[in-house]
Amino acid sequence: MSSSAPLPALTILDAVALTVGAAPSDAQALGFTVFTTGDVPAELGLDRAALERAGFTGKAGSSLVLPQAEGPELVAVGAGEEGELDAAALRDLAATFARAAARHARIALIVSALGSADAATAAGVLSEGTLLARYTYTALKTEPKAIALEAATFSVPGAADADAAVAAAVGAARVCARTAVIARDLANTPPSHLTATKMGEIAVELGERFGFGVEVFDKAALTELGCGGLLGVNQGSAEEPRMIKLTYQPEGTSTGHLGLVGKGIMYDSGGISLKPSDPMHLLMKMDMGGAAAVLGAFTGLREAGAAASVTGWLMCTDNMPSGTAYKLGDVLTARDGTTVEVKNTDAEGRIVMMDAIALAVEEGVDAIIDIATLTGAALMALGQLTAPVLGNDQRVVDLTLAASAVTGEPLWQLPLERKYRPQLDSDVADLANIGGRYAGATTAALFLDHFTRKTPWAHLDIAGTMAVDADESWRSKGATGFGARLLLETALTFTKA
Ligand code: BES
Ligand code: MN
Ligand code: ZN
Repeated sequence: MSSSAPLPALTILDAVALTVGAAPSDAQALGFTVFTTGDVPAELGLDRAALERAGFTGKAGSSLVLPQAEGPELVAVGAGEEGELDAAALRDLAATFARAAARHARIALIVSALGSADAATAAGVLSEGTLLARYTYTALKTEPKAIALEAATFSVPGAADADAAVAAAVGAARVCARTAVIARDLANTPPSHLTATKMGEIAVELGERFGFGVEVFDKAALTELGCGGLLGVNQGSAEEPRMIKLTYQPEGTSTGHLGLVGKGIMYDSGGISLKPSDPMHLLMKMDMGGAAAVLGAFTGLREAGAAASVTGWLMCTDNMPSGTAYKLGDVLTARDGTTVEVKNTDAEGRIVMMDAIALAVEEGVDAIIDIATLTGAALMALGQLTAPVLGNDQRVVDLTLAASAVTGEPLWQLPLERKYRPQLDSDVADLANIGGRYAGATTAALFLDHFTRKTPWAHLDIAGTMAVDADESWRSKGATGFGARLLLETALTFTKA
C-alpha cells in the first residue's frame, strides 16, 4: 500500500478468527439469544422477570449486558419473536451482540434456534453481521479507542467447523464483508486524501492482491477516448480525472459478461451551481460511493468463484468551481457522440456516467448495472435504508432485487416512466442534464437510459443509502458500503439471458 491512506479495515478483517462450535474458555463476552417468549438460557443466571425488571424483553435489536464479578461478561441478546427468525434477523442479532460487546476483542455468541435458516447460512450471516458491525474508521485517529475484534465464535445448533458447508459459508461471509468494508474505508476517507489519482493507485494494488485486471486512464487517455463527460466535470478541478477499468475473467468458461459502472465523484461541491452551506455537504466526500462499491465487489469475485466475466468502469474526478470550471449552458460531447447541454453543474454524476455506459455498450457486455450517489430525490423518496432501482430490462432488475434480499441491502423498484423523457430535451443539444422539479431519481435514470442503447440495464441510486447517522443493523455510523455485497451477489448469480 502506498503512503498516506491505506485501507486499515482490510488488514483488520483478515486478522479476525471466526469459528463455529462451543464457546472457547478465553472468550471475554458471551452472548445468549433471548426470544420475547419461552425459556431464558440458564447460563444468564436470571429469569425473564429479572430481565424485564431491567427493561429487557427480548425485542429484536435490544441487548442487556450483565456485569459479572469474574469471568466473561454475559450479554442477553434480543432475538425477537421465535417465529420471525430468519437469516436477516440472525445477521442483525449478531451485529447487536458485537456492538454490545464492543469493549471486548474475543467474543462468543450462543444461538439457541435458527428459525428458517439452515446451519451453514446461519454461520455465514452471523459472521457477516459481526464483521460489519465491528467496523470503525480509525485511520486518522492518533489513539483509536475502538477495540479491534480478534476472535468471534458462534455456537449454532447442528453446526461445527468440521462441517464443510459451514466452513465454506463462513469463508464466503468474510469475503463478502470485506467488499463492504473496503467500500466503507474508501468512502470515509477525506476528499483531499483520496483523489482520483490515489483511487487509481489503490485499485491497482487491490487488483494485484485479489486477482483482477486494472487499467487506469489519465486525462490524456480520456481525451484520446473522447470522454467529454468525465473531462467536462473535471475542468474546474486542480486534480486530474481517472477512469479506472477493472476486468475479471473466471477460471472456466464464462456464463456471460456483466458490466458494472460506478460514479466516482471524489468530492461534489456542485461546481458553478455551488451547493449552499449545509451539514449534508460534509457527506459529499462519499459521492464516490458507487465507484467504491464496484471496486469492493471486484475484490470478492475471484475468491467467491464468480463464473461470469465482469468489467467495471469507475469514473473518478471531483466537481469543483473555478475559473476553468464547466459552465451552465456549456455543451459536452459524450464518448458515443451525444451532445449534452449543462443546465446545472451539480447534476454531474450522470455526466461522468454517460461515457462509461457508452464504453460498456461498445464493449458488448450482456448487461450493465450502474451504481451512483445520484440524486437527493432518492434520499427524499426512500430514506437512508432503501435504494431505488430502475432499469430497461426486468430480468436484470430482478437479479438485483434477488441479490438484495440475500445480502439485506434493501432495494425498491421505481418505474422508468418514459413519459418524463421530454423533460430532458434541449434547445441546443441532444439532451439536457436536468429534468423538472419532480421525479428527480427517474429523470436522472432516463438520462442514463439514453446511453444504454437498449443493452439490458439496471441502475441503483445510492444517494440515500451511502451513509447512516447512527449504527443500525449491519450498517455502522458513517459510510455503509451499500451495494458492494449486493453487486458481488449479483455477479455470482449473473448469466447471459
Ligand atoms: N451527489 C449529489 C446527490 C446526493 C445528494 C448524494 C444527497 C447524496 C446525498 C448529486 O450530484 C446532485 O447534486 N444531484 C442534484 C441533481 C439536481 C441538480 C438535478 C440533486 O439531487 O439535487
Ligand atoms: Mn452534484
Ligand atoms: Zn454528485
